[in-house]
Formats: sequence, structure tokens, C-alpha cells
Amino acid sequence: MDSIISETSKSSLGESSGLSLIVASSLNNAIGKANSMLWHLPEDFKYFKNTTWGMPIIMGRKTFESIGKPLPGRTNIVITSNKDWKVEGTITATSLEQAIEQAKETNAKEIFITGGGEIYKQSMPIADKIYRTLVHTKIDGDTFFPEIDEAIWQKVFEKNIEADVKHKYDMSFQIWEKKLKDIF
Ligand SMILES: NC(=O)c1ccc[n+]([C@@H]2O[C@H](COP(=O)([O-])OP(=O)(O)OC[C@H]3O[C@@H](n4cnc5c(N)ncnc54)[C@H](OP(=O)(O)O)[C@@H]3O)[C@@H](O)[C@H]2O)c1
Repeated sequence: MDSIISETSKSSLGESSGLSLIVASSLNNAIGKANSMLWHLPEDFKYFKNTTWGMPIIMGRKTFESIGKPLPGRTNIVITSNKDWKVEGTITATSLEQAIEQAKETNAKEIFITGGGEIYKQSMPIADKIYRTLVHTKIDGDTFFPEIDEAIWQKVFEKNIEADVKHKYDMSFQIWEKKLKDIF
């Protein structure tokens, strides 16, 4: 059952960055291994597609290569240090800052960071929202999502989905928002 835990958000009182991270991570924060996903969870794919549809998505070059093609219906921005990197249907950025500037040019209401580990780590301090699908398993990985620090972030939404024939693991769709900074 859906539960709104708190509606307090940074954006309700202060300037919002409009930058959101979206990730599926295990109980031990694993997100990938050998540049591949760790699970096949169709409901999570659907959630990812619905949440990011029409918005700019920013990803690292390795994540793009693990997907292999631009995702439809979204502006795909790929970060690489190689300024000559070019793939049709994507925009190349040579830094996170440049990627965010390019994403802002779309005038979308939200900008999504879609991984992987390196890009999540760099963008978490400047993001104000995390859409995290918690996959209820401890699993071997080589790439991890940074720990969500509950002194900085608060969970404002959670919806639990039970495992079934198509989903090997229980999942929780969670939304985390950055807590208000002390303004005094
Ligand atoms: N579970 C999930 O939700 C999820 C989501 C996304 C990805 N993943 C997984 O995450 C793994 C990939 O993550 P990763 O950490 O290995 O790689 P990544 O973050 O996808 O990409 C790293 C690459 O991005 C470029 N890069 C990073 N920071 C940069 C900067 N500041 N300036 C310029 N370029 C920069 C570099 O590309 P160059 O080497 O070309 O310079 C670097 O090698 C895969 O296993 C994938 O399946 C999981």
C-alpha cells in the first residue's frame, strides 16, 4: 500500500535543483556487475520508463554502453572524458556540469541522473530527490550506489511490491528528498 511519510520538501521552501537520481539497488547497495544489470524486474522497468518519460536523462558512458542504444522518448545525455565520442540520438557532455546545462536547455521540469556508480556519486550532493527501487536481496556486485545518509535525506514515499513469477525479489519503490538546510 502507498504511504506518504512526509510532504516536507526542500522545493516547498527553497530553491530546487530539479535534479533527481533514479536507481535500483539491493540491500547492500549493489547496482551492477561486469557492466550489466543484476536482475530482471519488469515492474521496475515500467516504473523507470513512466517516471523518466519526456525528461532529459544523464548517464555515464559505461552505463550507456551497457544499454547499447538511446532510450526513446527522452533526451539522452552521455558523460565521457572523450570529446570525440558521438552516438546518434545522444548528446555528449564532457563533465557533469555541462550535462546539467544541456539538460536545462530542454526546459523540462525534472532532470534525471540514471547512473552508473561514478555518476551517482558525483551528483548525489547536488540532487534533491532520489527515486530508489530497493531490491530486497543481498547480491554480489562490483558497482554500488552511495549510502543514503538519513541525516541529509528523508524518505517521503514507499510502495512495496511482492515477488511473483516475473519478479524474483520483493521490491520497494521509494522516494527520498533532501531535508531542508538550517536557514538561520
Ligand atoms: N541498478 C541501476 O539502477 C543502474 C543504473 C545505471 C547503471 N547501473 C550499472 O552501473 C554500472 C556502470 O557504472 P560505472 O560506475 O561503472 O560507470 P558509469 O558511471 O556509467 O560511467 C563511468 C564513465 O563516465 C565518464 N565519466 C564519469 N565521470 C565523469 C566526469 N566527471 N567527466 C567526464 N566523464 C566522466 C567516464 O567515461 P570515459 O571513460 O569515456 O571518459 C567514466 O568511465 C553497470 O554495471 C550498470 O549496469 C545500474
